[in-house]
Amino acid sequence: MPTHNKWGLQLLNRHNSHIALPMSATPLENKKALVLCAFGTTVPEAWGTYTFIESRFAAAFPDYEIRWAFTAAFVRKKWREMGKEIDSPATALARLADEGHKEVLVQSLHIIGGYEYHDLIKTARALEGLPKGLQKVQLGRPLLSCDDDYRAVAKILRTHSKTKRKDQEAWLLMGHGTGHGANISYAGLQLYLQEEDPLMLLATLEAFPDLQRAIRLLKKNEQNTVWLMPFLTVAGDHAVRDMAGVHPESWKSILEKEGFVVKTDGTPLGDLAPIVDRWIVKAREAAISAT
Ligand code: CO
Repeated sequence: MPTHNKWGLQLLNRHNSHIALPMSATPLENKKALVLCAFGTTVPEAWGTYTFIESRFAAAFPDYEIRWAFTAAFVRKKWREMGKEIDSPATALARLADEGHKEVLVQSLHIIGGYEYHDLIKTARALEGLPKGLQKVQLGRPLLSCDDDYRAVAKILRTHSKTKRKDQEAWLLMGHGTGHGANISYAGLQLYLQEEDPLMLLATLEAFPDLQRAIRLLKKNEQNTVWLMPFLTVAGDHAVRDMAGVHPESWKSILEKEGFVVKTDGTPLGDLAPIVDRWIVKAREAAISAT
C-alpha cells in the first residue's frame, strides 16, 4: 500500500507525516524509497504540478515509497513560517536512513545541471556509507543532460506549442538562467529548438540568451504574434509575475511595448506528461546504474 494517495497528499501533509507515517503492508526493510528533489516554490497554486509529477512517478515506480525535498532553503523557510515543514534533500535522506533504508533513489526535478543539481550530488555522496546509514544513494540526472534529452525536449515543446499557436505565431520560452557554467544548456536547447522550428525561441531571466536577443530575432523575422511559456518545472513566482504579470517589467509588458501581440500559456514543464516521463527515464537509469 503506498504511503500517499493518488494526489500526492504525502507532500501536502508533510508537516504531520513526520510523526506518524502510514503503515505499509511491505516490511520496511524490503521497501524502496524515492526522493523527488525540486527547487520548490512559494506559490501554493503551483503545487498541483508536484502532485501531478508524483502521480506519474508513483505509477512508474509502484514498489517505491515517494518522498519530497525542496533544494531552495528560502522556499523551505517561507513554508516553515507558515507552519509547513518541507525537508531539504539532506534531511529527507537522513530520515530514510533512520527509518532503516539502506538504498535510496533520488531524482532531481531540476532542468539543467547547475548549482542546485551539483549541491544534490554533494549531499548524496556525503550521506552515503555512514555507519548504520545509507549504503547507496542513486541519483537521477536533470532534464537536460545528454543529446537525447535536448532532442526529445525540443520535440515535446514544439508539439505542445502546436496545440495552441497558429503556424505563423512565434513561441518564446522563459528559462531561469544561471551564473553556473551549465547555463550553456539554454543556448544549446535554443539550437535544438531551431532545428525543430525556427519560430521556437528560448530566453532566460538572468543570463544568456536574454529577452533583448529574442526581441531582436522576432523583429528581424517581422513577427507579429508571440506566445510566452515558462521553461520552468512549476509555474511559480517567475511565471506569474516576471513572465505574464501586468507590471511594466514583465516579459509580456515589454513585448507589448515593442509592438508584439502577446499570448501566454502558463503551462509549466512539470504539467506536461512527456516531460515528466523524461525525468522518469533519468530515475530508471539511476536505479539500474552500478555507480
Ligand atoms: Co529565481
